[in-house]
Amino acid sequence: MSAPNQDRLHVSFRPSDRARQALETLPGPVTCAAAPSGQDRSELLSDVRGAAALVCLLTDRVDAELLDAAGPSLRVVANMAVGYDNVDVAACAARGITVTNTPGVLDEATADLAFALLLATSRRVVEADAFVRSGEPWSWRPDLFVGLDVSSGATLGIVGLGRIGLAMARRARAFDMRIVATPSRSAGDEAARLGIETLPLADLLVTSDVVSLHCPLTPDTRHLVGAEELRLMGPGSVLVNTARGPIVDEAALAAALADGTIGAAGLDVFENEPAVHPELLALPNVVLLPHIGSAGRATRDRMAMLAIDNARAVLAGEPAPTPVHP
Ligand code: DGY
Repeated sequence: MSAPNQDRLHVSFRPSDRARQALETLPGPVTCAAAPSGQDRSELLSDVRGAAALVCLLTDRVDAELLDAAGPSLRVVANMAVGYDNVDVAACAARGITVTNTPGVLDEATADLAFALLLATSRRVVEADAFVRSGEPWSWRPDLFVGLDVSSGATLGIVGLGRIGLAMARRARAFDMRIVATPSRSAGDEAARLGIETLPLADLLVTSDVVSLHCPLTPDTRHLVGAEELRLMGPGSVLVNTARGPIVDEAALAAALADGTIGAAGLDVFENEPAVHPELLALPNVVLLPHIGSAGRATRDRMAMLAIDNARAVLAGEPAPTPVHP
């Protein structure tokens, strides 16, 4: 499987049927891992040896060790995710390897899930479901699972007004929320049309009832939300994170949820994924999901097809459709 071959494309996971059909149309040989969840490290290092293209997952660490294992034949790393913090882009660039990601095809699915977390946390849906299942006797009462009124003037603060942040804003607009966002170079006309006000981060945290994170993980955004930022958000406020776990200091978040510094959180991503801070697991006011923001059937097919097309293009000597710029 790992014999050197100039044009071999290796896929580090088991592709869907649609993706497999696309792979079958490629001119060169293709190898695929057997598990849908990806390969363990040693298997990946072995299988990537001599490959010309790697289609990989966000759980694959593409670093100097992997690039050394692949050898000089590797020309493209096509990450099946919009986030590419798992890829050492500079190390790839230094070796002339193109890195690509999958922007644009998962915005709506990810914003759907972020908004689902906004509603679930604001209106305490998961807590209330657990309560009914517990069998505890209940009847309607004015103070049962009272939460935040979302569509009566609540303010959503969007940190990272890129494609997914804007998709989140469109949903919030339909719920009549006031929308504020951190400054963005790319949002332009649509931000104006949606009536989004721009605020510096600290002011956004103070102003917002719900803060939703949509920025990439970079050295600048690691622990962007820590103890001080949570304090600025204040009691009753809600934090939603569908971006990357390390943007939030998870220990500080657990403490803030436990002592009422903020009201609730909805998390689809974790600082040390797949591990979850043990204190979060014990708290009722946090909804925890296993990184399923883009897990719509058609969305996942689009992500795989775009990753494959990026790899195909580079192998064919064409420009990659969605390259990452170092
Ligand atoms: C991404 O694409 O970066 C998401 O986290 C997974 O879809």
